[in-house]
Amino acid sequence: MRVKRFWNKISIKLLIAIIISFAISLFIAYIILYNLNRFHLLPPNRLSVDQYNLIVNTLTVVVILSFIISFLLIIRNKIKYLKLITSSVQNIANGKLGSTIVIKGDDELAQLSRNINLMSKELENKFEHERQIENAKNELITNISHDLRTPLTSIIGYLDLLRKKEYKDDEQLTDYVETIYSKSQELKSLINELFEYTKLTSPDIKLNLTVIDLGGLLEQIIGEYIPIFEKAGLRIQKSIPVEDLLVTMDVEEMVRVYDNLFMNAKIYSIKPSFIKINLDSDGKNAFLSISNQVEELPVEDVNLLFERFYRGDQARIEDGGAGLGLAISKRIVEIHGGTITVDYKAGWLTFIIEHRLKE
Ligand SMILES: Nc1ncnc2c1ncn2[C@@H]1O[C@H](COP(=O)(O)OP(=O)(O)O)[C@@H](O)[C@H]1O
Ligand SMILES: [Mg+2]
Repeated sequence: MRVKRFWNKISIKLLIAIIISFAISLFIAYIILYNLNRFHLLPPNRLSVDQYNLIVNTLTVVVILSFIISFLLIIRNKIKYLKLITSSVQNIANGKLGSTIVIKGDDELAQLSRNINLMSKELENKFEHERQIENAKNELITNISHDLRTPLTSIIGYLDLLRKKEYKDDEQLTDYVETIYSKSQELKSLINELFEYTKLTSPDIKLNLTVIDLGGLLEQIIGEYIPIFEKAGLRIQKSIPVEDLLVTMDVEEMVRVYDNLFMNAKIYSIKPSFIKINLDSDGKNAFLSISNQVEELPVEDVNLLFERFYRGDQARIEDGGAGLGLAISKRIVEIHGGTITVDYKAGWLTFIIEHRLKE
């Protein structure tokens, strides 16, 4: 392997080319001298100084030329290859990203081409990725402006009625004000969700990590949700181990995930029914599952629920959110190095979060 690499070095190849060209030019010089000698044209014969100089100069020129010509002939493939590399790099620089150079041989030029190919592919991927981000951003802006316009239009509509005093009595006035208030709240939560989402998708997001007992944290959150669930006709069935399950997390961010899952369970489940909350561990990971009963699945492929702006029909009726909740949750779980999945079986929709336990 080493020996092969040695012979494939471009400096060695050039050295060999020089030696061969040198040998060829010496050989040509020898032939010329031999023939001059045969025709008695060399000293000590009668030659004038001029004639002698002419012969020596011609001989020198012929030797140098034959050296150059044989050298160029030997390395012409390499030069051709170098030209090919130059024009390919030119193409890449001109925007033909992803184009590649044929690999010839195994020397430094081949290595150079290999690296250029890698670079070209890398650049192409980067550009493609950037384009996708750009498209996603545009899509996000389109969707969000649509979502923001709806409550804003109705706020403006009701304010206009108030401005023109177009209401029958105090009761209707209160009604309008209430509507304006709730629409403004909706607008605010939409803006908050959007802000959260864009913040989370930025590449330099920072987590405020602490080690916490997951079981304890969940007990505390569930305690706060019991009255909310009960008011909605939902009972909690929970199974949370007593031993500590230590997880490293940004508590504020992860609580946002649990909040969204609990609120979704509250909004979208059959009522009255049960919400099942389970915490489990295999020694390496902790698994939290939250299940609720659904009348019918809003989608064929449950994974679509994690898509940005995906909302079931019921969500539109019941005023869920912008459809960003699960997309945000997924992103938060992923930047923690965990996973969030969803499963549907026999009327039960289950969200499972896998958290890595602290070692
Ligand atoms: N626990 C659940 N049970 C039934 N459907 C759900 C549940 N969680 C989410 N969904 C469906 O997934 C959609 C997306 O949820 P989410 O991303 O939280 O957005 P949002 O709640 O703002 O609509 C909801 O609109 C709803 O149709
Ligand atoms: Mg939600």
